[in-house]
Amino acid sequence: MKYSTKSGKLEDLRTDCLIVTMHAARSVARALELDDYLAASSHDFVDKAGRAQLITLPKATSIRRLLVVGVGDDAELSPADYRKAIAAAATALKSAPVRDSVLAIDAFKVAGYDGYQKARVALASLTAQLYRFAASKQQQDETPPAQIAQLAVHSTARGHGATSSAVRHAQALDTGMAFARDLGNQPPNVCNPSYLAAEARKLARGASPKNRVRVKVIDEREIEKLGMGAFTSVTQGSATPGKLIIVEYRGAAAKMPPIALIGKGITFDTGGISLKPPAAMDEMKFDMCGAAAVLGTTKAVIDAKLPINLVTLVAAAENMPSGRASRPGDVVTTLSGQTVEILNTDAEGRLVLCDTLTYAERYRPKAVIDVATLTGACVVALGAHASGLFANDDALAASLLSAGEFIWDRAWQMPVWDDYQQNLKSNFADMANVGGSDAGAVVAACFLSRFAKQFAWAHLDVAGSAYASGAAKGSTGRPVPMLFQYLLNQA
Ligand code: BES
Ligand code: MN
Ligand code: ZN
Repeated sequence: MKYSTKSGKLEDLRTDCLIVTMHAARSVARALELDDYLAASSHDFVDKAGRAQLITLPKATSIRRLLVVGVGDDAELSPADYRKAIAAAATALKSAPVRDSVLAIDAFKVAGYDGYQKARVALASLTAQLYRFAASKQQQDETPPAQIAQLAVHSTARGHGATSSAVRHAQALDTGMAFARDLGNQPPNVCNPSYLAAEARKLARGASPKNRVRVKVIDEREIEKLGMGAFTSVTQGSATPGKLIIVEYRGAAAKMPPIALIGKGITFDTGGISLKPPAAMDEMKFDMCGAAAVLGTTKAVIDAKLPINLVTLVAAAENMPSGRASRPGDVVTTLSGQTVEILNTDAEGRLVLCDTLTYAERYRPKAVIDVATLTGACVVALGAHASGLFANDDALAASLLSAGEFIWDRAWQMPVWDDYQQNLKSNFADMANVGGSDAGAVVAACFLSRFAKQFAWAHLDVAGSAYASGAAKGSTGRPVPMLFQYLLNQA
């Protein structure tokens, strides 16, 4: 989607479709001498968040259609109702023969939002809903893809500065989200560790100036030689070699410490020798959505040219059972020197992440955020709406929570208390890679925390939020909006 800005009188706009509230629609219709027509055609309209009606105008007006969005008597919307209202507009746009549209943002009043936030939240929501994966289908779907390709945000001259920076940021986010979602949706026979590495290299090629971005790929042999015994234990069972993919973005002075993003990039998780049951195993192609999210966020940062330093590390591997796979009971030595008894080969995410966390120490980062579809337990705890947030630093946690709240890609904080650490006791190594069945998401975070002692660290468990199952099966692109917002706030 291409975003832009517009100002001037609403009734003078030229567009396929003007997105408005009923109140604003009336004044536009009055100016166009179409008030009777609007009254007659909107007779059945219920002015309530979640409703929308597309009205095609009769004359050869330069505004071809009004998309009237319910807000409920012109009162101030709550942020949740605002999302509902915009979602209804997106649904209407999807099935309409509309190529370009203008959103009359000033018509909407949202409690606690300024013009910038109104535009950001609306565009983020439209971005999320109008995405479609260019699937490898030979036959046409019943529902053709949406035609909308351009959306302008209209505001008064006074609001123009805020609107245009909102549009710039929304455009970068849109690009980053699509990138993340495409990666997530690719089948696992296509999207393997080498594919992720190739996509990371493309990021560098798209950067301007080019020397802002450097990509390094550490191959499986080197991963082993460096002493990443935990990472190696996961990738050794697969015929497809694992990779540690590093994207270094320099948008600020070299001496400024970077923020590090780490993504779990298990391109397929069979569970390994601790094999998963067959139901829905296909969804384990989404086990690289953490990697997709950090790469998508990096793309957005590169596009927006944010004045920060960022290093993105992707732990890419396939978790397969084979004659070379690790066994339950194997003891491995991590890059940190700590030893781990692998009691369950299906708890592989923490094994690739722990060595990547240690590797990140060499960047002396001011904060490290890892993103992972880490535990089924997190889905049980929070479902799809909130990502699980864990941190060893309260300020970092607060910044991520408020960034998520701002752009409506929310997380909920869970504890990383020492009390839970005893679940990881092992008779044969410094720790086991799993605890009992209680508090699975917390125990996984506790495992990671043992490798995050050198920096402020946060962990986002996105097992429930990064992709949807069922009829809407697909990658959601979360938590790219939260991460990009967090980085914008740091810039
Ligand atoms: N990738 C899974 C977590 C997962 C499960 C994500 C379901 C999305 C939906 C992870 O590698 C895994 O298998 N975790 C195990 C951990 C357990 C063995 C302690 C799990 O959650 O069952
Ligand atoms: Mn697993
Ligand atoms: Zn996994």
